[in-house]
Amino acid sequence: MKKLGLSLLALLTASFIFGNAQQQGAGGATLIGIAMPETHVQRWQKDGANLASEAQKRGYRAELQFGNADQTTQNQQIQGFLTNGAKLLVVSSVNEGVISAVSDAHRDGVEIIAYDRIISNSADYDYYITFNNYKVGQFQGQGIEEGLNLKSATAANPKYITLFAGSPTDGNAFFFYDGAMSVLNPYIDSGVLKVVGPYPRTSKDTANFQRIATENWQAPVAKTRMENLLAGDARSVTLDAVLAPNDTLARAIIEACISDAKYQSKLPVVTGQDAEADSVLSIKNGFQYMTVFKDTSKLAEAAIILADQILKKEPINVPGAVLASGDLLSIGDTGRKVVNAYLLEPVYITKNNWRIPLDAGFFTADEAARLK
Ligand code: BGC
Repeated sequence: MKKLGLSLLALLTASFIFGNAQQQGAGGATLIGIAMPETHVQRWQKDGANLASEAQKRGYRAELQFGNADQTTQNQQIQGFLTNGAKLLVVSSVNEGVISAVSDAHRDGVEIIAYDRIISNSADYDYYITFNNYKVGQFQGQGIEEGLNLKSATAANPKYITLFAGSPTDGNAFFFYDGAMSVLNPYIDSGVLKVVGPYPRTSKDTANFQRIATENWQAPVAKTRMENLLAGDARSVTLDAVLAPNDTLARAIIEACISDAKYQSKLPVVTGQDAEADSVLSIKNGFQYMTVFKDTSKLAEAAIILADQILKKEPINVPGAVLASGDLLSIGDTGRKVVNAYLLEPVYITKNNWRIPLDAGFFTADEAARLK
């Protein structure tokens, strides 16, 4: 009910028409359709609202929908945007099943920007905007390196870690994991760090990656897996760290640890990303170790600047973002073509600099009040 209320409110706000800068005949301002994947991870509500207001600021109409982590629902929402005459879609997909809707849009001459998540296995679009997701993962690896002081640790007194990955249906999850493991693998190789449970050396080890992955980024899935690990593989050791791919899952993992007597006075070093208010509070209070701040209001603004340039057929120049090249080209590789991927920079956050997202105005007034 609450979720429905929020989405409805967002939709009503987003559909409100501002200005006439993009007049197209009698129909009014040009329509941009905004398809967000889910609401159970907090960031998407902010992303959706920011995208809609940035579009409206530039004279566009915006329609905003959340896919409820269900691709069939999201595809219907995209069809709705097409029926309503959208000229451009900003899509953060649930999974690869989105490609049929993307191909329909392409057939209708509608431009598509993949937002935050790549649309894999499609050659029907040209633009992708996201953060440097490999670096997000490297920051998570760095958090564990720093939190466990791995540079000074020895194989005689090894540290124990267990590994979690994000949704195997989300291309980002592979970059996060590989970035993290690029920092951790050397310590595993030297015996300083020991993995409890499955150990995919990289995301290419599909069988083991599936075992540590968290379908649709669902917190209850991660919590149950952590409880099972604590009662099973990790029973005879004390875990020093858990690689958690985002804040929603980090908090679920911490909850599981807290209900185990062994971890009540000292939690493992747990990583995250998204700088969700609850996790920043947890970091401030010494529970979660780190997060990665991805300023999604900047991402939304950059995406709409890109949309505006595409629609006006202007040269593309996205402030605050770099066009992926060299080693980073793979971030824009859909498997069918390499799209133009514009990358923003993530920021490493621990208890030493947790105020950065607060000072950047990233939090709602309520969230900011809780952090003060
Ligand atoms: C996003 C993360 C988010 C996750 C779960 C990923 O694609 O990049 O910011 O935590 O999806 O929604």
